[in-house]
Parts: sequence; structure tokens; C-alpha cells
Amino acid sequence: MADKAARLTLEGKDYDLPVLTPTVGPECIDIRKLYAEADVFTFDPGFTSTASCDSTITYIDGDKGELWYRGYPIEQLAENSHYLEVCYLLVYGELPNKQQMETFENLITRHTMVHEQLHYFFRGFRRDSHPMATMVGVVGAMSAFYHDSTDINDPKQRDIASIRLIAKLPTLAAMAYKYSIGQPFVYPRNDLDYAANFLHMCFSVPAEEYKVDPALARAMDLIFTLHADHEQNASTSTVRLAGSSGANPFACIAAGIACLWGPAHGGANQAALEMLQEIGSVDRIPEYIKRAKDKDDPFRLMGFGHRVYKNFDPRAKVMKQSADEVLALLGIENNETLKVAKELERIALEDEYFVSKKLYPNVDFYSGIILSAMGFPTSMFTPIFALSRTVGWISQWKEMIADPQGKIGRPRQLYVGADRRDYPEVSAR
Ligand code: SDX
Repeated sequence: MADKAARLTLEGKDYDLPVLTPTVGPECIDIRKLYAEADVFTFDPGFTSTASCDSTITYIDGDKGELWYRGYPIEQLAENSHYLEVCYLLVYGELPNKQQMETFENLITRHTMVHEQLHYFFRGFRRDSHPMATMVGVVGAMSAFYHDSTDINDPKQRDIASIRLIAKLPTLAAMAYKYSIGQPFVYPRNDLDYAANFLHMCFSVPAEEYKVDPALARAMDLIFTLHADHEQNASTSTVRLAGSSGANPFACIAAGIACLWGPAHGGANQAALEMLQEIGSVDRIPEYIKRAKDKDDPFRLMGFGHRVYKNFDPRAKVMKQSADEVLALLGIENNETLKVAKELERIALEDEYFVSKKLYPNVDFYSGIILSAMGFPTSMFTPIFALSRTVGWISQWKEMIADPQGKIGRPRQLYVGADRRDYPEVSAR
């Protein structure tokens, strides 16, 4: 709703633009009618000052370093909840009661298997394919199997597609991992919880019993929760834009996975750990800090900085504590990489360059240390981010599809190309 206006004066003419009031956070100037009334566009590449939608799902305050899922602070959910309960909250808007949780958990558990023929898609990839390449391909291919949940105008089909995606992404991510290391696929097990099931599908082999360590399963579950949703980030915006054309949910999530892969986004967890391993020891940190500040050097401190957070990423704080716990549990608290990470963080947070640009560690800075300690190769870090974020993508997609004002997303441009000109004969060129 708008109870006040912002006045724009252009060539002597005034335009009163409604100002929309949020529950909390910045107000928004509604420019939807601007082009029709004033024949001008706004210009905001990278969308640094642009709200693409209204949403009730996730709220971030970058200055305070706050993140809420449906109003609940991430710190409280990390402490008291678990991933499937967070999935219910994100998808349906409220925390479930006991009965609702049991029904939801039972539904997810019984959708974790994938169509047996999906296995053949993996066989077409080289074994050394990056698991994210496999994930993009196989998740997109789900639309070739689950035809009974691709009609986006049927709320029942939208719901079953959501359940299938939340349930099957861990199975597909584990299959991508197993395929990349030449081990046989491991089927999901209904007697294991969501995170334990994922660890079992990744690390068990037919030759022997594999017992999931409950503490590692808890740490895995926490990583899933911390990555579940994050407002209108690049991959979520990709899912919304793909969904605005009416594309089926499997194709939209595949588009989100493709966007997440970039090192500036979800691919940063792999890049951050590889950077820490390349630095190798504390005494080499100054050399890398120098490079990060050098305008002529494309090197950036991976895992640092954020478009929204100009304070600590609250997820990084929780992740840092979990890293200490997991490495102590595994008896590798003297892990050199963790030492480099902590010293790099300490130096960066005192360095004028990083302080002035408000570059703090983000969610990707510590996650890789935990995942590596659990036994995952760096190539599996972003697939794990993707499976965690699927519930966020799906929740945002459902919110957009259900919006009666929804329309296809179609930005305009500032054209700076050639003026109109006539076609010259070759002899005249
Ligand atoms: C995620 O959006 C989300 O919510 C994403 C995410 C989610 O949950 O979905 O939170 C997940 O993607 C986290 C971010 C992971 N990416 C990285 O860790 C990669 C390293 N970080 C950067 O590439 C960068 O900080 C971004 C991409 C994260 C943010 O970039 P912005 O907001 O476009 O900022 P910018 O590139 O304009 O940088 C501002 C300034 C620049 O210097 P000046 O041009 O002003 O002189 O800060 C500098 C940059 O050069 N800078 C860095 C830096 N990040 C920014 N310098 C060194 N190292 C860095 N990491």
C-alpha cells in the first residue's frame, strides 16, 4: 500500500510516484507507471537499488547483519530447528505442529528415490565432469519424467513438484558425487533423517556397513538450514525470471543451479577453500591481501564481501562455530586451513581496505572447511549449496506463481549502440 509519494521533476513536469511501505526495511518507490507517464526508464544494472518483487519469505538487514526466515532470526532456527522444519516454514509460511511435521517428513522421505531411468542420464557424462554440470543437466531432465507435476496452473501439481524437488535433490547430488568418483549409486534409506540420508548416499559403499556420525549429520543439517533461502539473490532472481514465463518448476530450478555455479555466487565456497589451500600457511597471507587490493589484479578474497551484508554475514558466524566443533570432533582442530582462515579473517577485519569497503566473511568462507573435513571434494561444495537452496528457490517460485499480479519479467535497456543507418553494398564498406 502507498500512503505517501515521491516527486520526480523531469523537464519541468512533476510526477508523483507512490512510496510503498514494508513491514521492515527500506521503503520502495513504485515506478511501474513511470515509462507510460514520463517515457523514461530507470537505470540500475546489477539491481543495486531495485526491488524486483514483494515477498513474505526472507528478510535481510545488511547493516545489522540480520537474516530472518518468515520472521524467525537465523540464529534461533540454527539453534532450535532442523532443516526439514525450516523447509516447511519456508514453503507454507508457518512452523509446523507435531502432526504437520510428521506428515511432511513422511511425504519427503517417500519421494527421495528418483525414476530408475534417470540413472542413464549420468552415464552420458564424462566421469570427470564437474558435479554442477551434471546437476544442471539431470535436474532439468526431471521435467522429462514427472509430467504429472509440470502444470504450473494447478496448485496440487505445484505442491507435488515442490515435494519432489526438496526430496530428490540430495539423491541427485549424491549420485553426481558417486558418478564422479566411479562408485555405484547408493539408494536413499527411509530409516535415516534427511541429512544422515545424504551422508549415507555419499559415503557408504556396498562392500561394508556405513554408520552415519550423528554429530556430522547435525552439522550437515545446519549447513542445509543456513543456505536454505536468501531473499532475491542472483540464483533466486533467475528462478523467478524463468518461472515468470510459465516454464515448469524443474526447468526453473535447473536455471537456478546454473546461476548459482558462478564463483561470485554459490561457486565461492569452492573458490574460497581452494584459495585458503593455495595460501597454505599464515605467513603467506600478506601477499594475498596485497593482491586483493590491487585494482590491476583480478584476484579477490573469495568468501569475503557481499552485495547486501555490510556487516558480518550472520550465517558465517554460525558456520565458524560449527567449523570449530566439527574439526574438534574429527580430531583435526590444528587444521592448517582453518588456521589460515581465522588469521586471514583477523587481518582482513583490521585492514583499512576491507574495513572501508565493509568486506566481511560471508556464508561461503567457512562452509568449505567443514565440508572438506567431512570428506567432500571442493567440487561438491556448490552442489550441496544447490540442494540446500532448492527449498528457497521453490518457495520463492510458488510465491511468484500464486501472485495474481504476476507478469513475465522483461527489463528494458539504455541503448547506446549505432543510430539508424542504411545497408551499404559490400563495395562501399
Ligand atoms: C553468495 O546475494 C546473495 O545473497 C548471495 C548469497 C546467497 O546466500 O544467495 O549470500 C551467496 O553469493 C555470497 C557471496 C559469495 N561470493 C564471494 O565470496 C566472491 C567474492 N566476493 C565478491 O566477488 C563480491 O564481494 C560480491 C560479488 C559478493 C559482491 O559484489 P558487489 O556487491 O557487486 O560489490 P563490488 O563487486 O562492487 O565490490 C565493491 C568493492 C569493489 O572495489 P571498488 O570498485 O569499490 O574499488 O569491494 C571490492 C571491489 O573490488 N571487493 C573486493 C571483494 N569483494 C568486493 N575486494 C577484494 N576481495 C573481495 N572479496
